[in-house]
Amino acid sequence: MQVSGKTILLTGGTDGIGRELAGQLKAKGATVIVTGRTPERIAAAEAAGYEVIMADLSSQAGVDAILTAVKGRDIDILINNAGLGSDHDFREAMPDLADNDRCIAANLKAPIHLITNLMPVLKSRPVAMIVNVTSGLAIAPRAGGPIYCATKAGLRSYTLALREQMKNSRVHVLEVLPPVVETKLTAGRGSRKMSAQACAAEIVQAIEANAKEANVGMTKILRLVESISPALARKIMIRF
Ligand SMILES: NC(=O)c1ccc[n+]([C@@H]2O[C@H](COP(=O)([O-])OP(=O)(O)OC[C@H]3O[C@@H](n4cnc5c(N)ncnc54)[C@H](OP(=O)(O)O)[C@@H]3O)[C@@H](O)[C@H]2O)c1
Repeated sequence: MQVSGKTILLTGGTDGIGRELAGQLKAKGATVIVTGRTPERIAAAEAAGYEVIMADLSSQAGVDAILTAVKGRDIDILINNAGLGSDHDFREAMPDLADNDRCIAANLKAPIHLITNLMPVLKSRPVAMIVNVTSGLAIAPRAGGPIYCATKAGLRSYTLALREQMKNSRVHVLEVLPPVVETKLTAGRGSRKMSAQACAAEIVQAIEANAKEANVGMTKILRLVESISPALARKIMIRF
Protein backbone atom coordinates (compact mmCIF):
# COMPACT_ATOMS: atom_id res chain seq x y z
CA MET A 1 0.00 0.00 0.00
CA GLN A 2 1.23 3.46 -0.85
CA VAL A 3 1.38 5.49 2.36
CA SER A 4 1.48 8.89 0.67
CA GLY A 5 -1.81 10.72 1.21
CA LYS A 6 -3.06 8.20 3.77
CA THR A 7 -4.28 9.06 7.26
CA ILE A 8 -2.62 6.82 9.83
CA LEU A 9 -3.52 6.32 13.49
CA LEU A 10 -0.38 5.09 15.26
CA THR A 11 -0.58 4.18 18.94
CA GLY A 12 2.59 4.67 20.96
CA GLY A 13 4.03 7.03 18.38
CA THR A 14 5.83 9.28 20.84
CA ASP A 15 8.81 7.05 21.62
CA GLY A 16 10.83 4.03 20.51
CA ILE A 17 9.85 2.12 17.38
CA GLY A 18 6.61 4.11 17.04
CA ARG A 19 8.39 7.48 17.01
CA GLU A 20 10.73 6.28 14.25
CA LEU A 21 7.81 4.82 12.34
CA ALA A 22 5.87 8.08 12.60
CA GLY A 23 8.83 10.01 11.19
CA GLN A 24 9.35 7.65 8.27
CA LEU A 25 5.64 7.53 7.37
CA LYS A 26 5.34 11.31 7.61
CA ALA A 27 8.39 11.73 5.37
CA LYS A 28 6.59 9.62 2.76
CA GLY A 29 3.62 11.98 2.75
CA ALA A 30 1.21 10.36 5.22
CA THR A 31 -0.77 12.26 7.83
CA VAL A 32 0.18 10.53 11.07
CA ILE A 33 -1.93 10.88 14.21
CA VAL A 34 0.11 9.58 17.13
CA THR A 35 -0.90 8.62 20.65
CA GLY A 36 1.19 8.58 23.82
CA ARG A 37 1.02 8.95 27.59
CA THR A 38 3.89 11.05 28.83
CA PRO A 39 3.44 14.85 28.69
CA GLU A 40 7.07 15.68 27.74
CA ARG A 41 7.07 13.18 24.89
CA ILE A 42 3.65 14.38 23.76
CA ALA A 43 4.93 17.97 23.72
CA ALA A 44 7.95 16.87 21.66
CA ALA A 45 5.69 15.11 19.14
CA GLU A 46 3.49 18.19 18.87
CA ALA A 47 6.57 20.33 18.33
CA ALA A 48 7.59 17.94 15.54
CA GLY A 49 4.27 18.70 13.80
CA TYR A 50 2.14 15.68 14.72
CA GLU A 51 -1.43 15.63 15.82
CA VAL A 52 -1.17 13.90 19.20
CA ILE A 53 -3.78 12.19 21.34
CA MET A 54 -2.95 11.71 25.01
CA ALA A 55 -4.24 8.35 26.13
CA ASP A 56 -3.22 5.60 28.54
CA LEU A 57 -4.25 2.43 26.74
CA SER A 58 -4.17 0.35 29.89
CA SER A 59 -7.54 1.87 30.74
CA GLN A 60 -10.83 1.88 28.85
CA ALA A 61 -10.87 5.68 29.26
CA GLY A 62 -7.70 5.84 27.16
CA VAL A 63 -9.21 3.77 24.36
CA ASP A 64 -12.36 5.91 24.48
CA ALA A 65 -10.29 9.13 24.35
CA ILE A 66 -8.68 7.96 21.10
CA LEU A 67 -12.01 6.92 19.58
CA THR A 68 -13.55 10.29 20.49
CA ALA A 69 -10.60 12.19 19.05
CA VAL A 70 -10.69 10.38 15.69
CA LYS A 71 -14.50 10.29 15.34
CA GLY A 72 -15.42 11.36 11.80
CA ARG A 73 -11.84 11.02 10.53
CA ASP A 74 -11.12 8.82 7.52
CA ILE A 75 -8.50 6.53 9.00
CA ASP A 76 -6.81 4.44 6.28
CA ILE A 77 -4.24 2.64 8.43
CA LEU A 78 -4.48 1.67 12.09
CA ILE A 79 -1.16 0.71 13.65
CA ASN A 80 -1.46 -0.93 17.07
CA ASN A 81 2.09 -0.33 18.26
CA ALA A 82 1.81 0.87 21.88
CA GLY A 83 2.90 -1.80 24.30
CA LEU A 84 4.48 -2.28 27.69
CA GLY A 85 6.29 -5.05 29.52
CA SER A 86 5.43 -6.86 32.73
CA ASP A 87 8.24 -9.09 33.96
CA HIS A 88 7.97 -11.24 37.06
CA ASP A 89 9.29 -14.47 38.50
CA PHE A 90 7.23 -16.56 40.95
CA ARG A 91 10.49 -18.06 42.29
CA GLU A 92 11.43 -14.62 43.65
CA ALA A 93 8.16 -12.88 44.49
CA MET A 94 4.46 -12.85 43.76
CA PRO A 95 3.49 -10.86 40.68
CA ASP A 96 1.73 -7.51 40.95
CA LEU A 97 -1.67 -8.37 39.50
CA ALA A 98 -2.51 -4.73 38.81
CA ASP A 99 0.68 -4.46 36.76
CA ASN A 100 -0.25 -7.67 34.90
CA ASP A 101 -3.71 -6.28 34.17
CA ARG A 102 -2.30 -3.03 32.76
CA CYS A 103 -0.09 -5.03 30.41
CA ILE A 104 -3.00 -7.22 29.26
CA ALA A 105 -5.21 -4.16 28.72
CA ALA A 106 -2.66 -2.11 26.77
CA ASN A 107 -1.13 -4.93 24.72
CA LEU A 108 -4.19 -7.05 23.94
CA LYS A 109 -7.50 -5.49 24.94
CA ALA A 110 -6.81 -2.01 23.53
CA PRO A 111 -5.86 -3.23 20.02
CA ILE A 112 -9.00 -5.39 19.92
CA HIS A 113 -11.19 -2.46 20.98
CA LEU A 114 -9.58 -0.06 18.50
CA ILE A 115 -9.90 -2.57 15.64
CA THR A 116 -13.52 -3.35 16.47
CA ASN A 117 -14.60 0.28 16.79
CA LEU A 118 -12.66 1.49 13.75
CA MET A 119 -13.59 -1.42 11.46
CA PRO A 120 -16.59 0.41 9.90
CA VAL A 121 -14.34 3.35 8.97
CA LEU A 122 -11.58 1.08 7.67
CA LYS A 123 -14.10 -0.89 5.59
CA SER A 124 -15.41 2.34 4.08
CA ARG A 125 -12.01 3.34 2.70
CA PRO A 126 -10.89 2.42 -0.85
CA VAL A 127 -8.04 0.43 0.72
CA ALA A 128 -7.17 0.09 4.39
CA MET A 129 -4.73 -1.70 6.64
CA ILE A 130 -4.55 -2.93 10.21
CA VAL A 131 -0.99 -3.35 11.50
CA ASN A 132 -0.58 -5.21 14.78
CA VAL A 133 2.85 -5.08 16.41
CA THR A 134 3.40 -8.30 18.32
CA SER A 135 6.91 -9.67 18.96
CA GLY A 136 9.27 -12.55 18.24
CA LEU A 137 8.13 -13.58 21.74
CA ALA A 138 4.67 -14.23 20.29
CA ILE A 139 6.21 -17.28 18.60
CA ALA A 140 7.92 -18.64 21.71
CA PRO A 141 7.95 -17.08 25.21
CA ARG A 142 10.81 -16.16 27.53
CA ALA A 143 10.38 -17.30 31.11
CA GLY A 144 10.87 -13.84 32.62
CA GLY A 145 7.88 -12.25 30.87
CA PRO A 146 4.93 -14.64 31.08
CA ILE A 147 2.26 -11.94 30.89
CA TYR A 148 3.94 -9.89 28.16
CA CYS A 149 4.52 -13.01 26.06
CA ALA A 150 0.94 -14.18 26.61
CA THR A 151 -0.42 -10.82 25.39
CA LYS A 152 1.76 -10.94 22.29
CA ALA A 153 0.87 -14.58 21.53
CA GLY A 154 -2.79 -13.63 22.07
CA LEU A 155 -2.55 -10.69 19.67
CA ARG A 156 -0.76 -12.89 17.12
CA SER A 157 -3.53 -15.48 17.30
CA TYR A 158 -6.21 -12.77 17.01
CA THR A 159 -4.37 -11.28 14.00
CA LEU A 160 -4.13 -14.62 12.19
CA ALA A 161 -7.87 -15.19 12.58
CA LEU A 162 -8.70 -11.59 11.64
CA ARG A 163 -6.61 -11.86 8.46
CA GLU A 164 -8.58 -14.92 7.38
CA GLN A 165 -11.87 -13.09 7.97
CA MET A 166 -10.75 -10.00 6.05
CA LYS A 167 -9.04 -11.80 3.15
CA ASN A 168 -11.65 -10.90 0.51
CA SER A 169 -12.14 -7.36 1.77
CA ARG A 170 -10.31 -4.08 1.22
CA VAL A 171 -8.86 -4.24 4.74
CA HIS A 172 -5.39 -5.76 4.69
CA VAL A 173 -4.04 -7.25 7.94
CA LEU A 174 -0.31 -7.14 8.73
CA GLU A 175 1.47 -8.52 11.78
CA VAL A 176 4.87 -7.11 12.73
CA LEU A 177 7.19 -9.25 14.88
CA PRO A 178 10.17 -7.15 16.03
CA PRO A 179 13.30 -8.71 17.53
CA VAL A 180 15.10 -7.07 20.48
CA VAL A 181 15.16 -3.37 19.62
CA GLU A 182 17.06 -0.57 21.40
CA THR A 183 14.22 1.30 23.17
CA LYS A 184 13.22 2.05 26.76
CA LEU A 185 11.23 -1.22 26.76
CA THR A 186 14.47 -3.22 26.61
CA ALA A 187 16.66 -0.91 28.74
CA GLY A 188 19.20 -3.00 30.62
CA ARG A 189 18.40 -6.15 28.66
CA GLY A 190 20.77 -7.92 26.30
CA SER A 191 23.12 -6.64 23.65
CA ARG A 192 23.17 -6.68 19.84
CA LYS A 193 19.86 -4.84 19.71
CA MET A 194 18.45 -3.60 16.43
CA SER A 195 18.01 0.16 16.15
CA ALA A 196 14.46 1.51 16.27
CA GLN A 197 15.19 3.29 13.00
CA ALA A 198 16.12 0.07 11.16
CA CYS A 199 13.13 -1.73 12.69
CA ALA A 200 10.78 1.05 11.53
CA ALA A 201 12.26 0.92 8.02
CA GLU A 202 11.39 -2.80 7.76
CA ILE A 203 7.86 -2.08 8.96
CA VAL A 204 7.38 0.64 6.33
CA GLN A 205 8.68 -1.75 3.66
CA ALA A 206 6.18 -4.40 4.79
CA ILE A 207 3.30 -1.90 4.66
CA GLU A 208 4.31 -0.79 1.17
CA ALA A 209 4.64 -4.43 0.02
CA ASN A 210 1.22 -5.41 1.47
CA ALA A 211 3.02 -8.14 3.41
CA LYS A 212 1.06 -10.39 5.75
CA GLU A 213 3.82 -10.78 8.28
CA ALA A 214 6.95 -8.71 8.91
CA ASN A 215 9.54 -10.83 10.68
CA VAL A 216 11.92 -8.02 11.48
CA GLY A 217 15.69 -8.55 11.80
CA MET A 218 16.62 -11.60 13.89
CA THR A 219 12.97 -12.70 14.07
CA LYS A 220 13.51 -14.08 10.55
CA ILE A 221 15.95 -16.62 12.02
CA LEU A 222 13.59 -17.48 14.85
CA ARG A 223 10.79 -18.10 12.33
CA LEU A 224 13.12 -20.33 10.31
CA VAL A 225 14.08 -22.35 13.41
CA GLU A 226 10.40 -22.60 14.37
CA SER A 227 9.48 -23.86 10.89
CA ILE A 228 12.02 -26.70 11.30
CA SER A 229 11.48 -27.40 15.01
CA PRO A 230 8.95 -25.51 17.16
CA ALA A 231 10.38 -27.33 20.20
CA LEU A 232 13.88 -26.01 19.47
CA ALA A 233 12.55 -22.47 19.02
CA ARG A 234 10.85 -22.71 22.43
CA LYS A 235 14.00 -24.13 24.04
CA ILE A 236 16.12 -21.25 22.73
CA MET A 237 13.65 -18.51 23.66
CA ILE A 238 12.60 -19.69 27.12
CA ARG A 239 15.98 -18.65 28.60
CA PHE A 240 16.24 -15.50 26.53
N1 LIG B 1 11.76 -2.94 21.89
C1 LIG B 1 11.71 -4.22 21.60
O1 LIG B 1 12.72 -4.94 21.71
C2 LIG B 1 10.43 -4.86 21.12
C3 LIG B 1 10.50 -6.19 20.70
C4 LIG B 1 9.33 -6.81 20.25
C5 LIG B 1 8.15 -6.10 20.23
N2 LIG B 1 8.11 -4.81 20.65
C6 LIG B 1 6.83 -4.11 20.62
O2 LIG B 1 6.96 -2.94 19.85
C7 LIG B 1 6.04 -1.96 20.35
C8 LIG B 1 6.79 -0.67 20.61
O3 LIG B 1 7.74 -0.92 21.64
P1 LIG B 1 8.97 0.04 21.94
O4 LIG B 1 10.13 -0.82 22.24
O5 LIG B 1 9.09 1.07 20.90
O6 LIG B 1 8.50 0.66 23.33
P2 LIG B 1 8.77 2.11 23.99
O7 LIG B 1 10.05 2.66 23.51
O8 LIG B 1 8.56 1.89 25.43
O9 LIG B 1 7.59 3.00 23.38
C9 LIG B 1 6.29 2.56 23.55
C10 LIG B 1 5.32 3.61 23.08
O10 LIG B 1 4.02 3.18 23.49
C11 LIG B 1 3.53 4.09 24.46
N3 LIG B 1 2.89 3.37 25.53
C12 LIG B 1 3.44 2.49 26.39
N4 LIG B 1 2.52 2.07 27.27
C13 LIG B 1 1.39 2.71 26.96
C14 LIG B 1 0.10 2.72 27.52
N5 LIG B 1 -0.23 1.99 28.59
N6 LIG B 1 -0.84 3.51 26.96
C15 LIG B 1 -0.52 4.27 25.91
N7 LIG B 1 0.67 4.32 25.33
C16 LIG B 1 1.62 3.54 25.86
C17 LIG B 1 4.72 4.87 24.95
O11 LIG B 1 4.29 6.12 25.45
P3 LIG B 1 5.13 6.80 26.64
O12 LIG B 1 6.39 7.24 25.97
O13 LIG B 1 4.28 7.89 27.11
O14 LIG B 1 5.38 5.71 27.65
C18 LIG B 1 5.55 4.97 23.69
O15 LIG B 1 5.08 5.97 22.83
C19 LIG B 1 5.39 -2.56 21.60
O16 LIG B 1 4.15 -3.13 21.25
C20 LIG B 1 6.37 -3.65 22.00
O17 LIG B 1 5.76 -4.66 22.72
C21 LIG B 1 9.24 -4.16 21.09
